[in-house]
Amino acid sequence: MNIVVIGPGAIGSLWAYHLHQAGHRVSVWSTKPHSYFKLRLDESPAIELANNQPRMLQQADLILVTVKAWQVEQALLPIRREINPETMIAVMHNGMGTSDFLIKHFSTNPLLVAKTTHGAYKLSDQQTCHTGKGHTQIGSLNPLGEQCQFLSQVLAHALPECGWNDNIQLALWNKLAINCAINPLTALHNIKNGELAAPSFKQQLTDLVSEVASVMTLQGFDVDESQLLAQVYQVIDKTAQNYSSMHQDIHHQRRSEIDYITGHLLSVAKLHNLKTPVNQKLYDAIKHIETVGRNHD
Ligand SMILES: NC(=O)c1ccc[n+]([C@@H]2O[C@H](COP(=O)([O-])OP(=O)(O)OC[C@H]3O[C@@H](n4cnc5c(N)ncnc54)[C@H](OP(=O)(O)O)[C@@H]3O)[C@@H](O)[C@H]2O)c1
Repeated sequence: MNIVVIGPGAIGSLWAYHLHQAGHRVSVWSTKPHSYFKLRLDESPAIELANNQPRMLQQADLILVTVKAWQVEQALLPIRREINPETMIAVMHNGMGTSDFLIKHFSTNPLLVAKTTHGAYKLSDQQTCHTGKGHTQIGSLNPLGEQCQFLSQVLAHALPECGWNDNIQLALWNKLAINCAINPLTALHNIKNGELAAPSFKQQLTDLVSEVASVMTLQGFDVDESQLLAQVYQVIDKTAQNYSSMHQDIHHQRRSEIDYITGHLLSVAKLHNLKTPVNQKLYDAIKHIETVGRNHD
């Protein structure tokens, strides 16, 4: 397949490398001006991929968008005229809230969304580390996307494991619940995920998850609140030694994905006239740090 990876950061470089090794014609679209992009994964020899070549976009069978959620619009809008109306577009980012944009601007394209638990870290522009093996789920965002189930096999062949999920929205909401609970709290308190297992966080985690469960119920999902909370604690336990992505973004003074995690929850809650004060408070606290900085608290 002709595949363009838009946003070859940590996770994009991981996929670009493995899709290339699986025999696909892979190129990237990056913020860098060069026409070639050198990429090295762990100890493997470097590969060279074409970069920012409109012809590759025009010929793409699949465009894999691996920028952060808040970068999706600014990455896709300037190049939308180069994208063939039949090209499959798959977004792979944390959080939710980019689908309305995609459906509006790419209505003729098969649209897909993927979530992955692989871990990747960029040491430099050229060097990426695969820090943790995980699994990937992919599903459709529109009816045309439903006809692209074979993509799960394409991705699984390149970087196992990957499966098709008929109910990807439920999987994304479950992930959102975990992210709403773990990400802002760890960023705010400057702690590793495991520290949230302390009894002092129990009430807050319970309230956060309860609010997400209420929104999910209003969205039509059949939710078991205690099971959702148990999942949060499982992730806290399994990733006890990790710093969450939001912790890392705030720590490095980068823009976080709060608008597409807690922010998405708040906007859906608002549509249902539901108050979610515990999540709102965390959202405000993170936005405050993002705009004013931690030192001015
Ligand atoms: N890393 C992981 O282990 C992991 C695991 C699961 C999910 N995720 C999710 O995957 C997404 C990407 O994460 P990441 O860690 O790979 O982030 P990242 O390293 O920052 O990668 C994003 C890449 O997109 C590029 N980019 C930004 N705007 C662009 C544009 N307009 N055109 C082309 N490229 C553009 C960035 O370039 P610049 O750096 O030059 O801005 C960067 O190389 C996030 O939603 C994250 O939560 C990550």
